[in-house]
Parts: sequence; C-alpha cells; structure tokens
Amino acid sequence: MTQHLTIVDHPLVQHKLSLMREKDTSTKSFRQLLREISLLLAYEITRTLPLTTRRIETPLQPMDAPVIEGKKLALISILRAGNGLMDGILELIPAARVGFVGLYRDPQTLQPVQYYFKVPSALEDRLTIVVDPMLATGNSSAAAIDLIKAAGARDIRFMCLLAAPEGVARMKEAHPDVPIVTAALDERLDDHGYIVPGLGDAGDRIFGTK
Ligand code: URA
Repeated sequence: MTQHLTIVDHPLVQHKLSLMREKDTSTKSFRQLLREISLLLAYEITRTLPLTTRRIETPLQPMDAPVIEGKKLALISILRAGNGLMDGILELIPAARVGFVGLYRDPQTLQPVQYYFKVPSALEDRLTIVVDPMLATGNSSAAAIDLIKAAGARDIRFMCLLAAPEGVARMKEAHPDVPIVTAALDERLDDHGYIVPGLGDAGDRIFGTK
C-alpha cells in the first residue's frame, strides 16, 4: 500500500456505518454491523497482498494457481474495542495468527501504559494488521505500534472504523510507514477526546457496557 490514508467509500460500508452511528442502535445490531464492515475493510486492506503460484491439479489438468505468498498474516487487536473488528477479519482470514495489546492512559501523565502484550512469533516475516475501531488522538495506536515494531514487525497496516484528523496526523508523524484504512474521516475531536460526530464509545457500544 502506498497511500497513507485510505477511506473505504463503498456504499455498503457507508450505509452500515450510518446505522452504527445512530444512538438508538442496539448492542446486537452494532456488533453485527461492525462484523459486516470489518469484512469489507479487511477486503480492502488485503487487496495488495503479494501472490505467488502453487502447482495444483484440477480434475482436468495441472495449473500454476495463485496463492498468497509468505507466512500467515498477524492480526493484532488493541484491547478492548479492537476485538470487535478482529472477529470479522478472522472469518475472512481464518489461518491468521492473533495478538493483543492492552494499554491504559495514566491519569497523571496522560501517557499510554502497557498492561498486556502477547503477539505472534516471527513478526518480521509477516504482514501485520493492527486493529482498533477509533483512531482518536492516535496516542494509544502510535504507542501500540511502537511496541509491535519493537517485537519485530516491519510491514504493518492499521485498520479502523472511524478516524479523526488529529489521530491521522499523529500516526503520520509517529509511523509514516504504516498505511491506515478506515471507513470515514470525521470532523474533529471534542474536549474529552471523542470523535465528532463519531458514534460514542466504541467499546461500550460493542460490549453493552456503560
Ligand atoms: N474512543 C471511542 O470509543 N470513541 C471515540 O469517539 C474516541 C475514542
């Protein structure tokens, strides 16, 4: 991928996202829509995966059939909302290796602090897709990618549902080599770091918490 930011403007993605934004959409529908959108975003983010060929035999004759080159992909969820995006991608790429990064924001310093980190082996040989639905300030995403790079990953892509201009700028500054795929780029962040117009707290809406 060469572009730093790709907005997936497919009508199905846009329609489903509008349903997700509505404040009265139920937890069940929100989760289902996120799963459906994640399949479409995953289709886009994997569009440029390198192919090689493998000799196979159809019932009629041998052929060199295209197959994805290299080691199995790594999917890394930024806890906890990332898990809502992960489920759908795993339907599309069921053999992917899976990792998790947990970060919380220190109330004093406001800096992200790691509380969980478990990622697949041989990240240096895998395309790594990092998922988090909301790219807001970009601080936790940038910090998670710092950790993922330190664990060896070199070819990283970031997938989110909604991005704020502040988050895109932060990621571009911290990780210009990491392309971002999103369903929409919203207007701005509010004073509490929420994306506006946004959809509220993605984790709460996915898991039905408050
Ligand atoms: N995280 C969310 O869940 N929502 C936002 O709007 C911003 C960050």
